[in-house]
Amino acid sequence: MRVAVLASGGGTNLQALLDSCVAGAPARVVLVASDKAEAGALGRARGAGVETHVIRDPADGAALTRLLREKGVDLVVLAGYLKLVPAETVSAFDGRMINIHPALLPAFGGPGMYGIRVHRAVLASGATISGATVHLVNAEYDRGSIVAQWPVPVHPGDTPESLAARILEVEHRLLPAVVLAAARAGKVVRLVPGRDFGAPEVEA
Ligand code: GRF
Repeated sequence: MRVAVLASGGGTNLQALLDSCVAGAPARVVLVASDKAEAGALGRARGAGVETHVIRDPADGAALTRLLREKGVDLVVLAGYLKLVPAETVSAFDGRMINIHPALLPAFGGPGMYGIRVHRAVLASGATISGATVHLVNAEYDRGSIVAQWPVPVHPGDTPESLAARILEVEHRLLPAVVLAAARAGKVVRLVPGRDFGAPEVEA
């Protein structure tokens, strides 16, 4: 499975994918694109010998769709991509575009809910469990159907930063699990905590 990653930031989730999609794995990262020329993610891609691209106009759906098609991309992974993916591209990759979000959706998602803001909102709410979610991308921010979730406890005394760090660690395990399972199945498949990846099963 040929995977493209879109990222705006440091790219630690991209790195986790690069580290999992090694020789012999059923998935390969063939393209990393960013709206920011200076994004750490692009440097990580170059370091791994993966083709990079700077998205000049993130709202240009035709150009983005053309780029992804030209590279023969089967699966698009949004890993800290902060721009809205144009509807044209979302629909061209319907069922084949996933996003990772650092909370248990549908809570703490939607427009403006990204980065440290998510963790601030979780702490302000008094929630005792947060986590990471991988979901399919549709026209609405953070509202596509959920593919996999990994719960993470909120500890007393957590700061947004400490919670973010604890969740980022599981993101690095969850995202590769989803991508490798999709590559094996030939399509994005829902994963069950405990059975398909290391997170504990949550009691019903
Ligand atoms: C992650 O927390 C991800 O869930 C969110 O943005 C962050 C990206 O981090 N969408 P990185 O660039 O992969 O290090």
